[in-house]
Amino acid sequence: MTLRFGLIGAGGIGAVRAQALTRSANCTLVAVHDVDPARARQAAPQAAFHADVASLLTSPDIDAVVIATPPQFHERLAIDAMEAGKHVLVEKPMAASVEACRAMTETAKRTGRTLAVGFNHRYFEALKLLRDTVASGELGTLSHVRAYAGHMGLAEFKAPWMYDPQVMGGGALFDNGIHVLDLVRYVMGDVTEVFGHALHRVWNLPAEDNALALLRNADGVVGSLQASWSEWKGYQFHIEAYGAHGMARAYYAPMQATVITMDKPGGARRVQRLFYPKAMLREKLQGWQSTVIAAFNEEFDDFIAATRGEAGSGRAASGVDGLRSVEVAKAVYESGASGRAVMLEPLS
Ligand SMILES: NC(=O)c1ccc[n+]([C@@H]2O[C@H](COP(=O)([O-])OP(=O)(O)OC[C@H]3O[C@@H](n4cnc5c(N)ncnc54)[C@H](O)[C@@H]3O)[C@@H](O)[C@H]2O)c1
Repeated sequence: MTLRFGLIGAGGIGAVRAQALTRSANCTLVAVHDVDPARARQAAPQAAFHADVASLLTSPDIDAVVIATPPQFHERLAIDAMEAGKHVLVEKPMAASVEACRAMTETAKRTGRTLAVGFNHRYFEALKLLRDTVASGELGTLSHVRAYAGHMGLAEFKAPWMYDPQVMGGGALFDNGIHVLDLVRYVMGDVTEVFGHALHRVWNLPAEDNALALLRNADGVVGSLQASWSEWKGYQFHIEAYGAHGMARAYYAPMQATVITMDKPGGARRVQRLFYPKAMLREKLQGWQSTVIAAFNEEFDDFIAATRGEAGSGRAASGVDGLRSVEVAKAVYESGASGRAVMLEPLS
């Protein structure tokens, strides 16, 4: 049996979510709502259009919703959906504030519904390789992780809310940065110490155009992170993990990975370079969306497994992961303002 979805928010990424749901063998897109009916109908012509979001949320025809609206609406929509008995997959960033994320995770706990956050970069092939290489112990004792995400900034945005901190929660760190922030946590484990700076030196905006952070976990592994809206070379991100016996690097776009392993620090190196030609060809023919759709479909499969109480591939980002990423991002701002590191309570 397929899981029956309603889509709320059918703009840029909502339309790609709709394509992924339509192509999935395990999902059915049965309902759609957007405050702009034309967008909803265009993105999901086969789905029942609900002009009133409450009618979609209470519809007996759906089991789950995907929320792809601007982040300021995520909290209310996710809570109302879970109260109505639906499972929720909400786009990143989970919400604009820590309090909103907490209200969402508490509702998930109380209602027993699955709450997942759309950190689909976890499913990119190069990222899967990097995470699995670290987890296998091949790199030896993990030392540090470096991550970067950047794009050209203002010219990329289709709507002013995308750089409004009241809506997004922040700037570059809540936009592309929240993906790599999640990836750093995903690779090195949870973060308990945060130091950072948010910069406003490029665009004249209330939201930061660059953020740089140093994160530390309870074992002393350090992650460095930069999110940028002044990457003049165009969209790219990469993440690297260094251990005593080697390193792994994942890069996009195009999708590439490098793994170097040694029997001892500084020993003879085994170098593996991966180029993912199938993904590159698919992108040439079908655009970057094809990579995102492939990731979404693996993410949907894990989401379905979670609704059944199963582990799936173990890659999915939970509501708690979404909450933690927002806590860490807000701690970067707090640290920049105070000039001090911010300590976070370990996750219980
Ligand atoms: N996973 C990813 O890689 C990724 C990529 C892009 C965007 N996103 C996230 O997805 C979300 C949407 O971003 P986007 O780029 O698609 O934005 P968008 O502006 O293109 O689309 C948002 C849609 O939501 C609709 N909308 C606005 N308020 C609404 C409401 N209250 N109820 C119902 N519909 C409403 C708008 O009419 C619009 O169609 C954001 O949280 C964003 O950060 C994630």
